Formats: sequence, C-alpha cells, structure tokens
Amino acid sequence: MSLKDKIESVRTQFLADIDSFSDNSNDINAFRIKYMGRKGLVAELFQKMGDFPADDRPAIGQALNELKLEISTELDAIVQSLDPDQAGSSNYRIDTTLPEKEPPIGSIHILEQTLNEIKNIFISIGFHVAYGPEVDDDYHNFGALNFPEHHPARDMQDTFFVDNDTVLRTHTSNVQIHLMEKEDPPLRYIVPGRVYRNEAISFKSYCLFHQVEGLFVDKNVSFGQLKGCLEYFVKQMFGSDRKMRWRPSYFPFTEPSAEVDIWDEERQQWMEILGCGMVDPAVFDNVGYDPHVWHGYAFGMGVERITMLKYNINDIRLFYNGDVRFFDQFS
Ligand code: PHE
Repeated sequence: MSLKDKIESVRTQFLADIDSFSDNSNDINAFRIKYMGRKGLVAELFQKMGDFPADDRPAIGQALNELKLEISTELDAIVQSLDPDQAGSSNYRIDTTLPEKEPPIGSIHILEQTLNEIKNIFISIGFHVAYGPEVDDDYHNFGALNFPEHHPARDMQDTFFVDNDTVLRTHTSNVQIHLMEKEDPPLRYIVPGRVYRNEAISFKSYCLFHQVEGLFVDKNVSFGQLKGCLEYFVKQMFGSDRKMRWRPSYFPFTEPSAEVDIWDEERQQWMEILGCGMVDPAVFDNVGYDPHVWHGYAFGMGVERITMLKYNINDIRLFYNGDVRFFDQFS
C-alpha cells in the first residue's frame, strides 16, 4: 500500500469510528489517543515519511497535515457538542439522541396560595365566595358606606380617580353594597379582590394590594360572634400560639369598630391585619334592609400582610417585583 493509500485508509477508519460514536466522553478521549496520540495512527504515518526521498516529502507532509487538522477539528467539534456551555460556536453539533433538559416548573404565586387558604377557612364555616368590580362609582366605594361628603379618605391622596365619579376601589367593602343591593338577607359572604391606594409606599404599604372582605347579615348577630369568627380564623391561619390583640377603631360603615393586630416576629412589633365591626344601621338603610330586623358584622383583611406575618417576609414590595428567586421559595 502506498503512503497515500494509507493516509486515505486512516481517514476512512476515522470517519467510520465517528459514525459509531455514542455520546460518551470516554469514547472521545479514546479516539483522540488512537489517532492523535504520541503513538497514534497519525504519528505512525509521520514516522514513515523518513522512508521516502527528500523530494517527495513536502507533498506527503502536506497531505498528512491536512489529515491531522481534519481529525482534530472533528474531535473538537464533538467535544463542544458534548458541553452545552460551548453552544453558539460555529462548530456546534446538535445531537438529536440526547435526552431533553427538564423544563423549569412554575408555582402558584404565594399570594394566591394565601388567598386559597383564607377562602378555605371561611368556606369551612359556612361562607360563600363572591366577587365585585375593581373600578366602581363613588357611591359604592364611599357614599353608601356612610362616608361623609368631605371625608379625607375620598381625598386625592388616598384614592386613584378614573374620573369625577369613578374610582379604583380603595377597599373590597364596595362589594358589601353590591351584594346587599342584589340579595335579600340573610347572607354570609367573603369577597377576595384587589384594591388600590394612592399612599406612600413602604415595607408594609403598596399602591395595590389584596383584601378579603367578610359580610354576615342575619337576625340577632352579635359582636361576640364576630370575635369568635375572627379568632377562629387567626388560629387556623397562624396556629393557636400566635399573639393577637384587639384594638377599638373607627370606620364610617361599622359601629362599634375594631382592628386586629398580629405580633410581627421579624420586627418585634404589632402589625395590623384587619378592620371589622358591626354593620352601621345607616348602611342597611342605604340598601333597603330594615335595621330593626337585620344585624350584621363585616371585616376586611389584608392578604399581603397576613402572608408577610405567616412566612416572615419583611417587605410587601417583594410580592410585586417579579423576582423568581423570591417566588421559588414558596413552590
Ligand atoms: N374596608 C376597611 C379597610 O379597608 C376594612 C373594614 C372592612 C372595616 C369591613 C370594617 C368592616 O380598611
């Protein structure tokens, strides 16, 4: 066999080897040694060059160098295709036999998880779930809830106005009015939803957040029932050891009114999670319920704050900045 034929046969052998290559990086090292090693097939051919007359050697040398370059280029391309970090290089080979990478799996947003927990607790004690509009008229968000005409809560500072008479609801209490306008008593609802406030943004306040409203209307409803209901909720949500306290408060649409605080372990201080009270008779008048027959309690809780307290999250803005590293912790 002439040296030229030998070069050709090494090339053919190499191409056949590559075809049977099985994506195993051990194989690629074995190939490299077999062809490119110090005692490999290419080196062997170079050695034979000495047997030829000096005049023939340049041509033979060139043919050998071509073979060497061809083999090493091919081997490099295979190495790159085995290492995905090298993808993008022009030598990248797609190996269709490789198993797919597992796609990342999403998760339910932590606020949605908390909302579901809240809903389930209240459903288990007889509440139904209702929804209402996020864009509403002044009457449902304020007027019917007994806010006086010039109450500061209607001020531009707290409320996003769409036009003179239309607002982004500042609380889910607007749905109290819609429900009572539509249905006769008795009724027992919770209303989850988004609310909007033009407030100073801080670790515990954001321009949009979620509330769950509660409304129970029947004959002979007492403040004791309201207390029992919300204490049951807090125990279910946070466990029976969590410190909570009641504080008297004021809302135009409830009388008497109160707020509930939960102990914030992170900051070692109280954090308000809800407002509540007995439905003011003026509200019943506005929706056409007879306040001498019907009584009720209502509450409105902040979902973000409940989530923060439950999971020791120290900043409300984390819920809204879309950082998957934050959300991944709750999947
Ligand atoms: N709507 C009140 C708020 O957003 C909370 C509340 C709801 C208070 C129902 C009493 C009754 O602060």
